[in-house]
Amino acid sequence: MTGIFALDLPWLTSRFDVATGAIDGVPSVQRYLADLRGCFADARAYEAALARGNPLVYSVASVEPAHGAGDLHYGLAVVHPGRVGGEYFHTKGHLHQWREAAEIYLGLAGEGAMLLESERTGETRLVPLGEGHVVYVPGYTAHHTINTAAVPLAYLGVYPAAAGHDYGAIADSNFRSVVVERDGRPVLLERAAFHA
Ligand code: F6R
Ligand code: MN
Repeated sequence: MTGIFALDLPWLTSRFDVATGAIDGVPSVQRYLADLRGCFADARAYEAALARGNPLVYSVASVEPAHGAGDLHYGLAVVHPGRVGGEYFHTKGHLHQWREAAEIYLGLAGEGAMLLESERTGETRLVPLGEGHVVYVPGYTAHHTINTAAVPLAYLGVYPAAAGHDYGAIADSNFRSVVVERDGRPVLLERAAFHA
């Protein structure tokens, strides 16, 4: 159908479900524990957890219509509660292929955090992400989300359609810090200190 809008009508409005992480009419990607090899600091704890089962760690439903330069994409993600060797369940994390691309995260349910790491300076920030939180992720910043609670963490991420996703750098060298549970609370540790 052609109309007065540049986008097809289905993209103008969508219903989403915070509980299931679904957005009507778009595909959802499921990441199970087995898909996250190398993402957790304690490799032995990871293999032991995998031997016990392969739980769903997170899902992302993305609305990514073919784009023009100024368009936006967005995704609804749900990160489930859990830990591997004390490290909280989290998303893989990435940089944007177009490094200048920023992103807005809107927390919808649950309680967690975002780990931000500047590719330019190596600086790390751990910021809260949960119901009622907005996080601005600047360009040139690796980012991933962490569920630090016992209930699912749900959020929307809105990013330039041209952003693209670069998972390679994180897959190769990982974030410098990890978020682990200590005495029932999340603590940020240097990855090297975690291994020590
Ligand atoms: C998009 C974005 C989010 C993530 C989602 C899953 O740029 O940052 O929608 O895609 O949090 O994380 P990844 O993509 O790292 O598996
Ligand atoms: Mn992103």
